[in-house]
Amino acid sequence: MQITSFKQYEEDYKKSVENPEQFWGEVAQNFQWRKPWFKVLSWNFNEPNIKWFEGAKLNITENCLDRHLATSGDKPAIIWEPNNPEEESVTLTYKMLHERVCRFANVLKRNGAKKGDRICIYMPMVPELAIAVLACARIGAVHSVVFGGFSAKSIADRINDAQCKLVITADGAYRGSKQIPLKDVIDDALIGCPTVEKCIVLTHVRTPVSMLKGRDVWWEDEVKHVNDICEAEEMDAEDMLFILYTSGSTGKPKGVVHTCGGYMVYAGYTFSNVFNYQPGEVYFCTADIGWITGHSYIVYGPLSQGATSVLFEGIPTYPSPSRFWDIVEKHKVNTLYTAPTAIRSLMSYGEEPLNGKDLSSIRVLGSVGEPINEEAWHWFDEKIGHGKAPIVDTWWQTETGGIMISPIATVTKTKPSFATLPLPGIQPILVDENGKEIEGNGVMGNLCIKFPWPGMLRTTYGDHERCKQTYFSTYENLYFTGDGCLRDEDGYYRITGRVDDVLNVSGHRIGTAEVENAINMHAGVVESAVVGYPHDVKGQGIYAFVIYPEMHGDVELSKKDILQTVTRVIGAIAKPDKILFVSGLPKTRSGKIMRRILRKIAEGETTNLGDTSTLLDPAVVEEIIEASKKL
Ligand code: WTA
Repeated sequence: MQITSFKQYEEDYKKSVENPEQFWGEVAQNFQWRKPWFKVLSWNFNEPNIKWFEGAKLNITENCLDRHLATSGDKPAIIWEPNNPEEESVTLTYKMLHERVCRFANVLKRNGAKKGDRICIYMPMVPELAIAVLACARIGAVHSVVFGGFSAKSIADRINDAQCKLVITADGAYRGSKQIPLKDVIDDALIGCPTVEKCIVLTHVRTPVSMLKGRDVWWEDEVKHVNDICEAEEMDAEDMLFILYTSGSTGKPKGVVHTCGGYMVYAGYTFSNVFNYQPGEVYFCTADIGWITGHSYIVYGPLSQGATSVLFEGIPTYPSPSRFWDIVEKHKVNTLYTAPTAIRSLMSYGEEPLNGKDLSSIRVLGSVGEPINEEAWHWFDEKIGHGKAPIVDTWWQTETGGIMISPIATVTKTKPSFATLPLPGIQPILVDENGKEIEGNGVMGNLCIKFPWPGMLRTTYGDHERCKQTYFSTYENLYFTGDGCLRDEDGYYRITGRVDDVLNVSGHRIGTAEVENAINMHAGVVESAVVGYPHDVKGQGIYAFVIYPEMHGDVELSKKDILQTVTRVIGAIAKPDKILFVSGLPKTRSGKIMRRILRKIAEGETTNLGDTSTLLDPAVVEEIIEASKKL
C-alpha cells in the first residue's frame, strides 16, 4: 500500500476519485478484520450521515498489537524518553506493550468499565498514557483524552459533556523545570462531576495526593489484582473509538467523534505513506497525546504499522535547547515530526545547540499544526535535514482524523511553506463567500472537501445538529474546514490560516469566544474582545481588549488578575499575550463588535483601518489606537 513514485501517486489519486469504494476497499485489506464489510461507503453530507466499512467487525488494538506479535513481538513499539535526561529511557516491545494493555484493560473492567462507557484520561506523556488509551480501545470503552495543560473547569466541562464514568490520571507531570499537580486538578474538577465513579491514579512524580475512599485507586495496586489475558472486544466499524474536544468559533469546545474502522484505516494508511515509513526505522513525533496529532501519529497510526514510536515527556528547551537533537542522536531517529512553533523557538537559539550533534540518522522531517513560514522551513531543511531529508508539511485537523494535504516523503516535490497536494481519497475544493467553486490555479478561497474519507468525524458528541451546523451547513454538500487556502500555478495548496474566529497559538486551537468568556468571568470586567496577531514564535499571539471600569490597584496587577482568571477557566495555554484596557469597543449600530478593526490595531496598523462609518461611536477607535501605542 506504499506509494513509491509520483506516477504511482497520480494513478492512485485518479483511482481514488473515480472509484473511491474500490480504492479504500483495497487499502482496508491491509488491516485485520474479524468480519468483512458488506458496503464500503454510504454517505450524505446534509444530515450528515457517513458510514465506512459497514457491517465489518474489528478491534483496533488487534491491529496495533496482536497482529505484530508473531513477526515482531520483540521489536520496540514505544521508546519513552523522560523529561529529565538523567533518568533512563524505557523501551516497550510489542509483546510487552500487548501484555500491559491487556492487564490494564482488566483493571478497567475490574473498576466497572464496559463497552461504550466514556473514560476521561488526564495524564503526563508516559508509556502508561498510551497503555490507558489502548486499554480503553481493547474493551470498547470510549476514551476522551484531555491535554495536561487544561484547568479543572475545562476538564469538568469535558467530563460532564461526555458523562464519563471513569477518570485515569497520575499524581503529577513534569514539564521542563515545572511540576504539574494533575491529581489536585482532577480533585477540583471532580467536585462537579456526578457521573464519575472511579479514578485510577498512576504514581509518577511522587508528590503527596489525596485519595478519596471508594473513588480513588492506585494504578500500581490495581494491576496486581488482575492477569494479562484480555480478549479484545468485537467492535462494529462504526462504533465510537474516541472523543476529542476541540475549539471552534463558539465559546464551548465540541467533542469530535471518531469511529473504529475508518479511523484505523485512515491513520494507518496516511502514516505509512506520508512518512514513507520503513520497517525497523525509529519515528519521533513530538506532539502530546492530548491532541489529535498524538492520537493518530504517536499511537494508532504508527502502531497499526508495526513501527517504533518515540514518546517524549518533556519540552524542546529543557534542560537545554539541544534536547531534541540529543534524543535524535541517542535513539537514532529516522523521522522527526514536529510543529513550526517548536522549530521557530529552537531557531532563536542559533546553531550552538546543534554543535557536535549527530543528526545523520534523519531521513524524513515533518511539520504540523499551523502554517510554516519560509524561514523556519529553510532552517529545518538545512540545519536539521542537511538538505537531504524531505519535509512533509502536513495539513489536517482534529475533525479529519488524519493527514489530508501533504507531500508524500521521497515522492512529492516539496515547496517551502506549501502543504502541496491532496493525498489519495481527498478531494479539496476552494469556494468563495457564496460557496461558488473557484476553479483553476493561482487562486485563493475557503478550503472545503467535497467527498468523504474514512478518517472524517462522524458527529460531535451529544449534539449532532452542532456537527451539521459547524461543518456541513456553511456550504451545501461540502465539508467546510474553516481554513483559507491558496492554490498556486502548479496546483499546490498553501494553507493561509483560519477564516473563522479560531486562533492557532503555538499550534493549539483556541476559540476567541472561549477566551472572551473566560476574561468576562472576572468580576471587574464588563466586556472584552479577543483577536489574534502575528507572533514570532507562537505563530499567533492572543490580544485582548478589555473594558474594566473600576480598577482597584495598579494596571499590572489587574492584568495579572485577568491572566489568573483565564488560567483557572481554560488553562495557561489560553492566557492573552497582551491586554489593553479600553473604555469601549468598536461596535456596529446593531451591537456587533467589529473585529476586523481590532485585528488591524493588534497588528500595529494605525491608519488604514478600512471603513469605520458604520460604527456606533467612531471616536472609540481613536482612543484604542492611542492606548495601543503605549502598550
Ligand atoms: C491548522 C492539528 C497550515 C489549520 C492537526 C487547521 C495547519 C488547524 C497545518 C487544525 C499545516 C494544521 N499548515 N495550517 N500544515 N496543520 N493547521 O485540529 O488552521 O489541532 O484548521 O489539528 O490547524 O488544528 P487541530
